[in-house]
Amino acid sequence: MAEYPHGGPLRVEHRGTALVLTLDRLERHNALSRQLIEELGRAARTAATDPAVRAIVLTGAGEKAFCAGADLKERQSLSKDQVREVVRLYRSEFGALDRSPKPVVAALNGVALGGGLELALMADLRVAAAHAQIGLPETSLAIIPGAGGTQKLPRIVGEARAKEMILLGRRLSADEALSFGIVNRVTPAGANLVDDTLAFIKPILEGAPIAQAAALEAIDAGLDVDLATGMQLEILAYERVLVSEDRDEALRAFGEKRPPNYQGK
Ligand code: COA
Repeated sequence: MAEYPHGGPLRVEHRGTALVLTLDRLERHNALSRQLIEELGRAARTAATDPAVRAIVLTGAGEKAFCAGADLKERQSLSKDQVREVVRLYRSEFGALDRSPKPVVAALNGVALGGGLELALMADLRVAAAHAQIGLPETSLAIIPGAGGTQKLPRIVGEARAKEMILLGRRLSADEALSFGIVNRVTPAGANLVDDTLAFIKPILEGAPIAQAAALEAIDAGLDVDLATGMQLEILAYERVLVSEDRDEALRAFGEKRPPNYQGK
């Protein structure tokens, strides 16, 4: 049995084949303490090799905040060297989510600010509650995003919009975030965000895991290289699906006019 963190600031729950990770520090708007960052990394690493998990859904406790970013109260008591260490921790632990072979989906139940939005940018897809707001206010606090925001955001929205958000510290509504392409879906007001997210990602939960992991790897690695190299990476990723049992099952199911039953093999 896979061992997930329990009893701490990260709530871990299995919903079918989805692993729902809930940031649970209501009294601080789910701000990122050191322990919470460590538990996120631990859960992502465990899920990466847990055959029972087909996707990770990240959300926050309550309705107000997904995550208010760095824990500014904890930060006040840290030396500059300790802050450097926390920034390194963001890299390694958020990195485990960023590189997850299982698709990661952020379900933004409220404000996602600073490190909270950077955490959501590690996800492959984002769904937002209608009242959610997102932003990177760091420059207004005389710092810059330190958990990948300056690199991830421009790759998602382009240079001009990333500079607008980071230099103005502007908060976007859920609908604006949808039009910027940062969120993939806005859950209608009144609907349950996590239920709606699970319904949205049903094709992932019932799909072929090896193909999904190979597609993610080809897309993510391809974004960092020139087109010709990316095309080669795609061939390597294709080879992995070609030899999978699920690929043969897909063809059999097609011939027999029935839905495929993928085993992740
Ligand atoms: N770290 C630690 N505690 C935080 C926090 C953070 N990032 N954000 C909010 N809190 C705490 C507040 O200090 C307050 O605690 P208190 O009751 O002991 O004073 C509590 O959460 C409630 O916050 P409050 O500001 O009263 O709630 P609100 O509903 O009016 O506003 C936010 C919510 C999240 C919009 C607002 O708190 C905010 O802007 N926080 C800062 C977010 C930010 O700039 N993050 C980027 C860091 S780089």
